[in-house]
Amino acid sequence: MTALLVKNIGILQTPVGSFSHKGKAQGENQKRKDAAIVIENGLIREITDGGKLPQGAENADRVIDAGGRLVTPGLVDGHTHMVFGGYRQHEIPMKLKGAGYLDILRAGGGILDTVRKTRAASFEELYTKTRGFLDEMLSFGVTACEAKSGYGLEAETEIKMLQVLKKLNEEHPMDVVSTFMGAHAIPDEYKEDPDAFIDMLCEDVMPAVREQNLAEFADVFTEDSVFNCEQSRRYLERAKALGFGLKIHADEIEAIGGSVLAGEMGAVSCEHLISIDEKGLEALAEGGVTAMCLPATSFYLGADFAPARKMIEMGIPVAAASDFNPGSCPSLNLQFVMNLACIKYRMLPEEVLTAVTINPACAIDRGDCIGTLEEGKQADLVIWNAEDMEMLCYRFGSNLVKQVIKKGEYIA
Ligand code: NIG
Ligand code: FE
Repeated sequence: MTALLVKNIGILQTPVGSFSHKGKAQGENQKRKDAAIVIENGLIREITDGGKLPQGAENADRVIDAGGRLVTPGLVDGHTHMVFGGYRQHEIPMKLKGAGYLDILRAGGGILDTVRKTRAASFEELYTKTRGFLDEMLSFGVTACEAKSGYGLEAETEIKMLQVLKKLNEEHPMDVVSTFMGAHAIPDEYKEDPDAFIDMLCEDVMPAVREQNLAEFADVFTEDSVFNCEQSRRYLERAKALGFGLKIHADEIEAIGGSVLAGEMGAVSCEHLISIDEKGLEALAEGGVTAMCLPATSFYLGADFAPARKMIEMGIPVAAASDFNPGSCPSLNLQFVMNLACIKYRMLPEEVLTAVTINPACAIDRGDCIGTLEEGKQADLVIWNAEDMEMLCYRFGSNLVKQVIKKGEYIA
């Protein structure tokens, strides 16, 4: 049994509890001054404050001096599309000439371009590339994440993507939770008959993913020119029957009813929500659905920002994630997401911390083991080159991580 002591923590700041936080509770963080943590077998054994050291601290095998810095839970990125072939930097001039996200997709580019490149990529290529992304995420303070399939749009490549994620979850320090997103776009083969594509996903691909235990959640892109509410409902009903938790990409560009559907179907989270209307907001509040807001996507698309402040006021639990993908958000920097959540969503630093720790942890069904710093939870934490949360919301464009500790193991 080896023990690690992290001492001389200026402020230890964390939400408390294993549930998602909404309304006033979104902004409630515990702040412990002059704190110390003892970690044993990857778990937090004891936390003290006021300069007092935990019992048996003197017997720790290793000691890290936090130097009076801020310590928070490891960040949780609750929404990514990190497995993909190629990149899409060639879309930049198209965008500058005025092409919108859906214009590029309708012309056979966008997601469909990445689908062609992902189908052509080998397992090893995707594995190595995604592993590099996970290394980079860890270096930015992210210790757990969600990742979606959806660049295959047929069984073989969807399963290849999910197998990459499964292997990385086993081999990489990052905790990776997978989501099946076969309904991410309509592939060329089904352009004339999207209903038949949904049937194929429901009858062939989804059961195979379930049988091989390759994903815990299912997600669908409910959007104008992509999947309508009726198709989305059919896909999600099948997913629910097979035991998947539900997520929906909704109201990214147009509010066509995706967030109302999320409320009705008991989705765990509803994602994007840039254009959400009053009906959608009420449905999320009533259904207890977490709003997974993606401010770096708004930034990169030059779009509006989701009404996160209003969501908090309406009692909707808010999470903020990167949406890392090659089209609408080619950045995996969750610290930038925190800056944007503060400046563009007008969220307070405490609310922001909740939005990148316990709320996304609950949205990936890990609220009982990660997302807060409490005795018995997994020892995933970040020592920041900052004295308080305000500093993290204020400095942008730099990486303020001093050290990341994952399951009690020091990671540079
Ligand atoms: O969440 N909107 C759909 N899916 C991704 C973008 C995927 C892509 O453009 O490659 C998103 O923004
Ligand atoms: Fe997304």
